[in-house]
Amino acid sequence: MKTDRAIEEIMLGMVREKAIEMYSETIVSYGIDPSNYGAIPDPDGYAKITGPCGDTAEMFVRMRNGTVEQVTFNTDGCMFSIAACSVAAEMAEGKPFPRCVGINQSAILKRLEKMPADHEHCALLAAMTLQKALRQCIDKQKEEEQAERETTETTG
Ligand code: FES
Repeated sequence: MKTDRAIEEIMLGMVREKAIEMYSETIVSYGIDPSNYGAIPDPDGYAKITGPCGDTAEMFVRMRNGTVEQVTFNTDGCMFSIAACSVAAEMAEGKPFPRCVGINQSAILKRLEKMPADHEHCALLAAMTLQKALRQCIDKQKEEEQAERETTETTG
């Protein structure tokens, strides 16, 4: 006789298979078990955006020498937004900043393969939040360079 736990696992497996049929393996895998979830303490870039659906995404970015070293996210949104934020974070990590400009809604949708049309806005939320956090990194970098120039000018 199967235990309650074994029955639960069979049921979850069936639900997962059905979800993969309806959407994609990528959406279901990242939506259920996302990479890059969480916060970075004292990040170089941070953004928090609430989409028209009322859900919020946050992105945290760590830069090193013009390269995106680490990206993490939090969201109270749906499974599709979790998947979208997770792949967006992965797509940015390890890339020089200029190459991250192309991580937009359509690039995220392409990576997720079979996003339902009524959830395409979840990918837009992920893209906008990532881009805003990246811009903050660049602004911070410019401010630091400016401060350094001023210090050099003052000290001669
Ligand atoms: Fe709100 Fe997906 S983020 S429905």
